[in-house]
Amino acid sequence: MNIELSDVMKGFKPFLFEELYRKERAERAKGRDIISLAVGDPDIPTNESIVECAVQELHNAKNHRYPNTKGNERFRKAIAAWHKRRHGLDFHYIDEISILVGSKEGIAHLPLTVMNPGDLCLIPDPTYPTYRTGVVLAGGEAYDVPLTEENGFLPDLGAIPQKIAERAKLFFLNYPNNPTGAAADIYFYRELIKWAKKNEVIIAQDAAYSDIYFTEEPSPSILQAEGARDIAVEFYSVSKSFCMAGWRAGWVVGNSKLVCALNALKENFDSGQFNAIQNAAAFGLDHFEEIVPGVRSRFKKRAEDFCNGLKKAGWRLSMPEGSCFIWAKPPVDIPSEQAVVKMLEQEGVLAAPGAGFGAHGEGYIRFSTTEPEEVLQEAIRRISAVKW
Ligand SMILES: Cc1ncc(COP(=O)(O)O)c(C=O)c1O
Repeated sequence: MNIELSDVMKGFKPFLFEELYRKERAERAKGRDIISLAVGDPDIPTNESIVECAVQELHNAKNHRYPNTKGNERFRKAIAAWHKRRHGLDFHYIDEISILVGSKEGIAHLPLTVMNPGDLCLIPDPTYPTYRTGVVLAGGEAYDVPLTEENGFLPDLGAIPQKIAERAKLFFLNYPNNPTGAAADIYFYRELIKWAKKNEVIIAQDAAYSDIYFTEEPSPSILQAEGARDIAVEFYSVSKSFCMAGWRAGWVVGNSKLVCALNALKENFDSGQFNAIQNAAAFGLDHFEEIVPGVRSRFKKRAEDFCNGLKKAGWRLSMPEGSCFIWAKPPVDIPSEQAVVKMLEQEGVLAAPGAGFGAHGEGYIRFSTTEPEEVLQEAIRRISAVKW
C-alpha cells in the first residue's frame, strides 16, 4: 500500500538543523574532524547543585506518578517568584503561568489556540524556524516581517502594510534574537504593544535567551510594557541560561486566556513534564542569582573573542547584544550556503547559512558559541585559513 501523508505533514520543510546535522554526519563518516558551530546546544554542564537536586527528586516515588500538564505548584511558584525578582512583575501562578516540555513545544502549539485555517501570522525574517511550524500546524498563512541591520534587527512596524496588520492574528518575536544576536529594549516593546492593540494582533515574544544578554541593562520582559498582559504572552526556557537543554523545561507567562488555552490544548497532547525535572528547574530558579551570571559572562567572553577573531579574518559583523550566536558576513559577498560548504569542505567547520533562517538572512552566517573555548579558538584558526 502506498501510504499518503497528510497535507500538514507535507507542509513541513525538513527542520533546518536536521539538514545541518545530516551534512555534518556525512563529513564525519568520511573520517574528517569536524567542528560544528551550527546549532545552539550549550556545552556547559548543568550546575551540579541542580543535578544533585534532580537525583534526590528521582528517588521520591511521588514524582513517579503522572505530572499535571500545567506544571506542579513548586515550579510555577518558583517561576512567579523569579519574575517578581527579575522583572518586578506579579503573575498568578495558577492562570498566568503554564509549564512547557521545552519552550519549543509551546511555541509550536500556540497558533493552534488562536488561528483558524487561512488566518495570518507575522513572522520575523530571519527567524527561528519553529514559529512557521506552528503556523503550518494550524493551517495558517505566514507573512515575513524583515529584520534588517539598518533597523537594529527590529521589525519596522510602520513598514507593515495596514491591510496585513488588520488581517494578522498573531505576531511572533524573539529577543534577545536568534539568529541575529540583537536585543529589544522596553521602548520598542511599548511601541509594539501600542501597535498590536491598535491592530488587534496577539503578541508572542520568545525569551529563550532572556538571560544571555550582553547589554548593560538586563534584557526586559515585554510584559513590563503597559497593557502588554491584555494581548501578549512570553515564552521562557531553562535550556540556555541554566544550560539545561536536554532536560526539556520551559514556560509560558502572560495573558491568562492565552496561557489557559495553551494549557487546555496541551492536555490533549502531553501530560506535562516529569516532576523531578520540574523540581530541579525550580531549584535552579530559586538559585538563579548564584548560577546564571557565570553562564552569562562565559557566553559574553566567548562572543567577544570569537567576534575579534572573525574581524581579524576579514569578516563583517557587530558584537551581539545577547544570545549564543554570532551573525556575520564573510570577507567576500557570496551566497550563505556556498560559504558554509566552503568552510566545511576546506577546513571542517560547520556553521548555519543565514538563508536557512529566511530570505533576509542571505549573505550572513550564524556561528553558535555553545562549544568549549579551545574548540572556538581552533574554529577561528581554521576559518582564518579559508581561501575565499
Ligand atoms: C529562539 C529560540 N526559541 C526557542 C528555543 C527552544 O528552546 P527549548 O525548547 O529548549 O526551551 C530555541 C532553541 O534553540 C531558540 O533558539
